[in-house]
Amino acid sequence: MNSSDRDELVRAAFDAQQRAYCPYSDFPVGAALRTASGKTYLGCNVENGSFGLTICAERVAAAASIAAGDREFVALVVASRGGVTPCGACRQFLAEFNPKLPIVMVDSLAPDKASESTLSELLPGRFEGPQ
Ligand code: THU
Repeated sequence: MNSSDRDELVRAAFDAQQRAYCPYSDFPVGAALRTASGKTYLGCNVENGSFGLTICAERVAAAASIAAGDREFVALVVASRGGVTPCGACRQFLAEFNPKLPIVMVDSLAPDKASESTLSELLPGRFEGPQ
């Protein structure tokens, strides 16, 4: 991914973060997922009064991409306070489609700082489904 694509994804992730529905945690998260087709799919966390129903931003973006018929994930940017890494459930969910997915974490409190990783690093030994 070139730097202008990356900047565009970072901006999209910050925009999506603004749309988070998180009245319970007050921890908004945004995700921007790029596919091989060049399209970007957005996600934000969606909480619920029945807390366990909460969906993370990353899974919302991945589901939007799959629903659009776009399954070749090539990069993900996640925006949050502190620039957190995706939770374990989201790692497993994303790895279904690209176990080597590059991920950039950006901090909404320090927008110029970013850290980078890959799903291979964040989720070694993923469950590959029933054999
Ligand atoms: N959350 C995400 O959306 N993505 C992550 O990677 C970590 C956690 C959400 C879930 C919940 O709405 C809030 O952040 C606090 O855990």
